[in-house]
Amino acid sequence: MEQAYSPSAQDGRGLFITFEGGDGAGKSTHIRFLASVLRKRSYEVLSLREPGGTRIGEKLRRVVLDPGNEELSAESELLVFEAARAQLVSEVVKPALARGAVVLCDRFTDSTVAYQAYGRGLSLDFVQSANAFACQGLSPDRTVLLTAGGSSTSIKRATRRGADRMERSGQEFYERVACGFKEAAQRDPARIRVVESAGKRSATARAVFEQLCDLFPWMSDDLKSNPALFARLDRPPKRGHRGKRQNGANRG
Ligand code: TYD
Repeated sequence: MEQAYSPSAQDGRGLFITFEGGDGAGKSTHIRFLASVLRKRSYEVLSLREPGGTRIGEKLRRVVLDPGNEELSAESELLVFEAARAQLVSEVVKPALARGAVVLCDRFTDSTVAYQAYGRGLSLDFVQSANAFACQGLSPDRTVLLTAGGSSTSIKRATRRGADRMERSGQEFYERVACGFKEAAQRDPARIRVVESAGKRSATARAVFEQLCDLFPWMSDDLKSNPALFARLDRPPKRGHRGKRQNGANRG
């Protein structure tokens, strides 16, 4: 086992990496893959999802996703997402970063910009202030925005049985959400790296590594000399294997 690179040795904290994108963009696949590579190199890795990741956050998740909560207003919805985030940041993310862990999160503040500001039409300034309040001074070191899926996948999900409250928001909503992600990336290109994820999984995983090489310098060597590491992602899943959930990381 190789010696873990310890970000904490450099700056007193770990690394916080978030994954964003529309439904079906491949966030969970690529979070799972990255987490497994990091763990093999002895990093402490936390794999989280938003909303959720804490006992209270999981309860709040049910509030926003329950299709029975039709009357939940946009303002209230925003505050529920922020409440879940504030809890996750103080209870889990900050202590993990203080220990030097790598924290991977499936959705974070950019989802709130895309869904609540662009999608629901709430004030962008207010949403950004609410994000800052919930984050308590924390911001992701890097955000990977995966581009596949988007509004067409969202519509498929919306029409299936069991679609959640967010998934029932309609095609125009999802078009605004896609625009929200795109504009967020344009505003902050140093943090938010756009990765095309419609092709082979191995190609997407390589592109993700390219966007993280400055944080994990050994990734350049994997990209140059370890094609088998990525190729395994293109193999069809074994029968009966449905992908392992880690600490609440979900599909997507
Ligand atoms: P989830 O099942 O985790 O979605 P996905 O598989 O697409 O990642 O449900 C989370 C839903 O909540 C998703 O529709 C996006 C939405 N969301 C917001 O609207 N605002 C937010 O701040 C966050 C974190 C998620």
